[in-house]
Amino acid sequence: MNEIKALAERIKAANKVVVFTGAGVSAASGVPTFRDPGGLWDKYRPEDLANESAFRKDPSLVWSWYQWRKKLILNCEPNGAHIALAALERDTKDFLLVTQNVDGLHQRAGSSKIRCLHGDIFINKCLDCGDLSNSNFVEFEEPVTCNKCGSFYRPGVVWFGESLDAGVLRESWLAAERCDLFFSVGTAASVQPAASLISVAKASGAFVVEVNPNGSYASTGVDMIIKRPAEEFFPDLLVAFG
Ligand code: APR
Ligand code: ZN
Repeated sequence: MNEIKALAERIKAANKVVVFTGAGVSAASGVPTFRDPGGLWDKYRPEDLANESAFRKDPSLVWSWYQWRKKLILNCEPNGAHIALAALERDTKDFLLVTQNVDGLHQRAGSSKIRCLHGDIFINKCLDCGDLSNSNFVEFEEPVTCNKCGSFYRPGVVWFGESLDAGVLRESWLAAERCDLFFSVGTAASVQPAASLISVAKASGAFVVEVNPNGSYASTGVDMIIKRPAEEFFPDLLVAFG
């Protein structure tokens, strides 16, 4: 039985499946990754853009970088990996998608059993009073002043140095501990605590599969490595799943 067929059978037999995704799953949609050659951290310095002190120092610079990313993402469509993962969710007993991505492409593809570890780029919350705006402010070129306290709204993403939402992290951690099949897809596995989910799943007895053409920091600790792009592999897996 070939690898894909065997994995499809594993999904059918599994009590709980967790899929953990990173920027690589959106690469084929045109959303830049962070650490690939030509990725965002190749061109920009995260310390200048993706943390609170950078925003307080130069709100316009940071805001405009996120506006650029939002507009780019809005012109992207979910790819075969997002679509196949949404279908697998529908056809699998107990399935959870845990993503590091903030682009919303999993949700646009139809995934609903999802936890977003690093937030959502289209959510805006006040830097000081936490007021949540229900607008994505895509059309605002300059930072938007908070209706309640006069500070600025900031993107609802987790910046370097910030804690993840405790509830989202706890649910994701428990899912990794309790699953018997865990896919790590399109992530360099270099950012904590998200990347620890892979070793948590492995230590808890799950069969761990990595889908990444280049491998990752987690490659040595997984059970199976699929060196294929996610947008090719997951549609094939869905066909084998039947
Ligand atoms: N299919 C599968 N994997 C891919 C594909 C693809 N088509 N294209 C690239 N990859 C892999 C790369 O080999 C790389 O290992 O995706 C990974 C992307 O790694 P990063 O750019 O580091 O993205 P990610 O792991 O999601 O980063 C985690 O870091 O900067 C923070 O908050 C940011 O959520 C992000 C976190
Ligand atoms: Zn405020």
